[in-house]
Amino acid sequence: MIYSRVVGTGRYLPEKRLTNDELAETIDTTDAWITQRTGIKARHIAAEGETTSDLAYKAAVQALEASQSGPKDIDLILVATSTPDLVFPSTATLVQEKLGIGGCPAFDVQAVCAGFAYGLSVADNFIRAGSSKKVLLIGAETFSRILDWTDRRTCVLFGDGAGAVVLEASDTAGIHSTHIHADGQFRDALCVPSGVSKRYADVIEANAFVQMDGQKVFKWAVKEMGNLARRTLAENGLAADEIDWMVPHQANIRIIESVAQKAGLSMDKVVVTVDQHGNTSAASVPMALDVALRDGRIMPGHKIMIEAFGGGFTWGSALLTM
Ligand SMILES: CC(C)(COP(=O)(O)OP(=O)(O)OC[C@H]1O[C@@H](n2cnc3c(N)ncnc32)[C@H](O)[C@@H]1OP(=O)(O)O)[C@@H](O)C(=O)NCCC(=O)NCCS
Repeated sequence: MIYSRVVGTGRYLPEKRLTNDELAETIDTTDAWITQRTGIKARHIAAEGETTSDLAYKAAVQALEASQSGPKDIDLILVATSTPDLVFPSTATLVQEKLGIGGCPAFDVQAVCAGFAYGLSVADNFIRAGSSKKVLLIGAETFSRILDWTDRRTCVLFGDGAGAVVLEASDTAGIHSTHIHADGQFRDALCVPSGVSKRYADVIEANAFVQMDGQKVFKWAVKEMGNLARRTLAENGLAADEIDWMVPHQANIRIIESVAQKAGLSMDKVVVTVDQHGNTSAASVPMALDVALRDGRIMPGHKIMIEAFGGGFTWGSALLTM
């Protein structure tokens, strides 16, 4: 039996850190409001000209180093992103070019904030099928480019960043299971309502940015992510106290706390980075994983539950042993 296993992680945050207090100088908000409703204190913003593939490449280099692999060992590159550099080619091929490893397949996965969970599922299936032996999976975003910086309901929530993992074929698990879902009937609850084949040439300013029904997203996320966390445990025959760490999508501390409670996990088993990173969409889970691995909280042999949700709606989870 072939399994996939995470053998290295990395992350990159753009240099510029934007605090709530700095935001409050330009829009009608306060550090107290943002902190109380979301748990966010600061986020990072890509420099002018710095693109998603630039962030992705830097995270990838760290993950390769951590896995003691060279770029040439990689036989599949996946980039989970909703903020690609270009319409095409894919951000994955741009990262491939930066790494100098032409030849292996490279493609993007678009599932917004659930992108990393989707990418993990794709990578796991490629490895289990014997099609790939070493996969570079990156979640990378420059959401700052699709925010209306005058809209206090959305611009305070998001940030830029990239997280990467290297997955390798192994005869021990590794990834025990992945679970991915989508329901397009919620398409309008969280979206950027313009694109390539819809109003691309004459994008109306307001449609070029994230639009969100915050309360709808909040209620749905708490309910579905709580259910999915419980199902993920049940399908693996595990009780909550057998999980060492939950690494959730970092959108809002109140959502994270509710999901942890529904899954039966105490907050001291949950990795939280939303305070310092904001919501970095597909980058949030791999960055949080990397933070907790590098600071020694997550250790070899630990059982980890990952979960994420995003526009669509899309959502997913995974259970793995590090
Ligand atoms: C966005 C969110 C923080 C808003 O919190 P909320 O408690 O639902 O707040 P509401 O939208 O009801 O707004 C309450 C008030 O705060 C105001 N408000 C909104 N954003 C504000 C801000 N940044 N600063 C100050 N006030 C703000 C609203 O205008 C409203 O004022 P009003 O009562 O005078 O109309 C919350 O709904 C949320 O986190 N939803 C999930 C979003 C998410 O995670 N998205 C990404 C998913 S991947």
